[in-house]
Amino acid sequence: MRKKVTVIGAGNVGATAAQEIARRDYADVVLVDIIPNFPQGKALDMNQAGSVLGYEPTITGTNGYEETEGSDVVVITAGKPRSPGMSRDDLVTTNEAIVSAVTKEAVKRSPSAVIVVVSNPLDAMCHVAKAVSRFKRNRVVGMAGILDTARFSAFIAQALDVSVKDVTAVVLGGHGDQMVPVVSATTVGGIPLPELMPKAKIAKLVERTKVGGGEIVNLLGTSAWYAPGAAAAQMVDSICLDEKRVLPCTVYLEGEYGIRDLYIGVPAKLGAGGVEQVVKLKLSLEERVLLRRSAAAVREVVGVLKKK
Ligand code: NAI
Repeated sequence: MRKKVTVIGAGNVGATAAQEIARRDYADVVLVDIIPNFPQGKALDMNQAGSVLGYEPTITGTNGYEETEGSDVVVITAGKPRSPGMSRDDLVTTNEAIVSAVTKEAVKRSPSAVIVVVSNPLDAMCHVAKAVSRFKRNRVVGMAGILDTARFSAFIAQALDVSVKDVTAVVLGGHGDQMVPVVSATTVGGIPLPELMPKAKIAKLVERTKVGGGEIVNLLGTSAWYAPGAAAAQMVDSICLDEKRVLPCTVYLEGEYGIRDLYIGVPAKLGAGGVEQVVKLKLSLEERVLLRRSAAAVREVVGVLKKK
């Protein structure tokens, strides 16, 4: 039997994620949005793309939640994106209300689902989804690290003129400008990055990664969606197919990395049970300090939530 995945928010990121998931051919997809006719239209278009691209799942668009019943995974992308000059944290109040409302409706129909949160400010919205759903930490996880890591990897591949497939990077911490690209764990074809590039050049790529989202917001007037949608789909794959991939995800830490009661990006094993393990990565002293700093920034945003 096919899996069932609900994507809430049929906007740029939600629609991209929905189609990426449908293309993998293992799950039916339900696309939910509050705009009348909008998710229905997107779903129809995606179903028709299936005959060209060769995928068969049913994609259903709806303004309600009946059709979401019994989903294995619920992806939450509902909410406002950034516009130029805004930080992700500026979205907190508006998106808290939205994420709270959609989580409540989704978990009523899918009490056993794993929730993948995408809406920003990401780390804080994970707190909202966890508080409202009352799910254990393994079943509420956020998408940010795969995207931030993809950006870092793409910049490295471009700078070295190598295939991005051979770049292994990892970006941890909160999904804000204080994220932590972990240079000590970054390799190209197995060779540590510092052996391939001068320190100053690496520092430039690290800085560009930290503001990588903002760079796109300034170009487009809104936030990115191709890479974010693909990144969310990769997490859904690992959960639905029980792949047990180790991916940078936003996870509720209970003492790991010296951080407690906070959602933040760390490497995690994703499988049928959701977050099956928080993977420990040896960090340099400098990286540990930066991770603590990033955690403090996340805590500040979480502090303004009504529901933590
Ligand atoms: P968008 O504006 O294209 O789509 C958002 C959709 O949510 C809209 O279609 C809107 O009608 C819908 N929506 C709003 N309230 C709703 C509700 N109560 N129920 C159902 N649907 C509702 O925005 P986009 O670009 O898709 O971004 C979505 C969110 O994802 C934003 O908060 C953005 O900041 C975040 N994002 C997060 C990333 C990450 O790395 N975690 C990366 C990129 C975007």
